[in-house]
Amino acid sequence: MLSQKIIEKLRENFIHIGAENPKIGTQDLRWEMCEDGYWVAGFYVGELWLAYMLTGDQAFRNQATMRQPFFEHLLNEPALINHDLGFLFSLSSVAEHKLTGDEKAKVLAIRAAEALRAQFQQCGEFIQAWPLTKINTENRNELAAGRMLIDSFENMALLFWAHKQTGVQSFYDVAVAHAKTAVKHLIREDGSTFHTFKFDAATQQPIRGETLQGFSDDSCWSRGQSWAIHGLSQIYRYSGDIAFLEVARKVADYAIAHLTETSLCPWDYDALVDERGVILDSSASAITCAGLAALAELDPENAERYREAANRMLASLTEHCALFDNPEAQGLLDHGAYFVKRGADRAMLPYGDYFYFEAALRLSGKHDLFW
Ligand code: GLY
Repeated sequence: MLSQKIIEKLRENFIHIGAENPKIGTQDLRWEMCEDGYWVAGFYVGELWLAYMLTGDQAFRNQATMRQPFFEHLLNEPALINHDLGFLFSLSSVAEHKLTGDEKAKVLAIRAAEALRAQFQQCGEFIQAWPLTKINTENRNELAAGRMLIDSFENMALLFWAHKQTGVQSFYDVAVAHAKTAVKHLIREDGSTFHTFKFDAATQQPIRGETLQGFSDDSCWSRGQSWAIHGLSQIYRYSGDIAFLEVARKVADYAIAHLTETSLCPWDYDALVDERGVILDSSASAITCAGLAALAELDPENAERYREAANRMLASLTEHCALFDNPEAQGLLDHGAYFVKRGADRAMLPYGDYFYFEAALRLSGKHDLFW
């Protein structure tokens, strides 16, 4: 069974990963590790918690809980606070509290939700992407000020969770307001997406969509699309607002219609194919796969279609990208495209691995996870 193979691979790699948090794979299939506060740090912990949920094995629990100080430290350092607190805390502290009842984990997750809510811009009604920095290297502040990212769809689950835990209405209101603004400006008429949207830094009036990590501003970067599919399914799950389900269907249908012949995501749905052929993104494929599986749980009308597409993607990831047969590999999937325009176009990525595991679980009937 796939989840069993994943669990065994995770167990084999404890020794190599130690107390650190994988960031991106090297060419020889080892991990480079996350620095303090890096947005990727929650995904490996999320895999450990999924493995503990399935097996009850204390080894996975210990590996996960020993990382709690890493996340606590992040909340104590203002320079490390940004819009990615949902990615970081849903899969660490929320998961820990859910599976073990640990009260400190709950307190940390609520503090993270408060810090995320504090980044809401009242006029533009969006959560600011990337912190503004005092050290204005290159055009960093000009780039960041008044900007919203498509990844932020995933970060809303932390706010909805905090609303459920505390009853404080503003968590819910900020999540819904940001999600509505993001849908309005990041989702195009045909169901494709922009990566980011720029507002005037002073007035917060909308300016334009841009696709910084994709092929071009008007193209559709597949990982951005995958964050929208998975994130919007969570937003619909929490809010019950049918408008979010409708837009989740639209972005999902766009992705399904643009997959490769092997049912995987090219790194950008509009990228020209060069002499190397199609550059895949296994991480976008795994996130899309988990997102379609999540959507199937919520949309009885289209469930069969979404589940069928997700099953095809999962099988193809296992056939074309999985590293189970390579004992040297410290991760699960090859062919992740972190940032193609910077040359980071083929590597293991912890978010690819986490969502591959999540997709396998969702498609085998386990729906109650951590988001
Ligand atoms: N959150 C940045 C990325 O998806 O690469």
